[in-house]
Amino acid sequence: MKEINDVVGIDNVFKPHIVRTKQYKGGSTRDEVNGDMQFYKLSSNENMLGPSPLAMKAIQDNIASLHEYSFQSDEKFREALEEFYNHEFHVDQFVTANSGIEMIELIGRAFLEQGLEFIVSTPTFLAYKNISELQGGTCVDVPLNPDDFSVDADAILNAVNNRTRLLFLGTPNNPTGSYLTKEVADKIIYNLPPHVVVVYDEVYFHFTDKDDFKTAASYVKEGRNVIAMHSFSKAYGLAGIRLGYGFTTPEIAGYLNRTRRPFMINTLTMEAGIAALKDVDHIEKTRALIHSEKYFLYNELDKADIKYWKSEANFILFKTVMDNEAFTALMLKKGVMVRTTEVFGLPQHIRVTIGTRVANEAFVKALNEVIEGI
Ligand SMILES: Cc1ncc(COP(=O)(O)O)c(C=O)c1O
Repeated sequence: MKEINDVVGIDNVFKPHIVRTKQYKGGSTRDEVNGDMQFYKLSSNENMLGPSPLAMKAIQDNIASLHEYSFQSDEKFREALEEFYNHEFHVDQFVTANSGIEMIELIGRAFLEQGLEFIVSTPTFLAYKNISELQGGTCVDVPLNPDDFSVDADAILNAVNNRTRLLFLGTPNNPTGSYLTKEVADKIIYNLPPHVVVVYDEVYFHFTDKDDFKTAASYVKEGRNVIAMHSFSKAYGLAGIRLGYGFTTPEIAGYLNRTRRPFMINTLTMEAGIAALKDVDHIEKTRALIHSEKYFLYNELDKADIKYWKSEANFILFKTVMDNEAFTALMLKKGVMVRTTEVFGLPQHIRVTIGTRVANEAFVKALNEVIEGI
């Protein structure tokens, strides 16, 4: 016993790759900024129309049963997903989790360990890197083209080696709003070796109206090693309940589902998700809002002579003439919270969520005042 104590201190047993990992931090919450202050929160790509009303009702209807372990498995939710997809995918092809971020964690835990690699194309959603590094994986970055944020398919294929296990493709991508054209997505996916799994993150797919945008569905149907990743945090307006899912080949889904613990998704979350899937009206209203308000904001940004990138998501990335911290602080003082993109490697850029007209007008007013004050 004495010998053991001499050799091992607590920091000796910490895993080095966990100690090295930079923890993922999402955008600030209202409370973190200032609980009492009133402002429009256009910083985390939430749905300003609020939660799906059907989901809210489902939560209320199920509160009284919270004393029971209602769901050991997520089968009820996966059955609802099979129905939602008109039985194009079987119940066993779905994997569910507490949010898209937890899907990334499940996938990383299942496929990565020290010595293995994953590919991302920055600037992109930071959790791909942070969460996958926690599983021991090494990040290989194949950056997006800095002018239009397009993906370099050849460079991605060249970066693949025997150690590569995961490729993260965000489409539409956060924070750029760019997307993979069908041509580029096909080129990558049809040329990958079979030991690489693609995480096809389409959590913003509701907002794109591009004809050449391709969802992951056809790749999965063809039996490619592709996991379509979805979240209830965006169009469904349910970021607070933390619910996400993926669909993939029966082989990969069966493998991933072995990693899920029992009772993983709580009763209210699961009932809210099942109800939200039926809320076609809320999704349609949300889509229509984002579509029309996107053009309103483009027009205002043009008038203010600000460089921005056309977006296929529910946010817009634009350039500022001052550093991010100063800009976001000034905007907040004027009642509008926007997201700094410094952390994505984009200094002097800002990401703004597309909100309701009243919030967007407040954003435009604040933006113009900040510009005039320079
Ligand atoms: C590209 C992308 N993927 C996944 C997520 C995860 O969403 P959540 O964990 O809220 O389901 C986000 C959230 O902002 C995102 O931007």
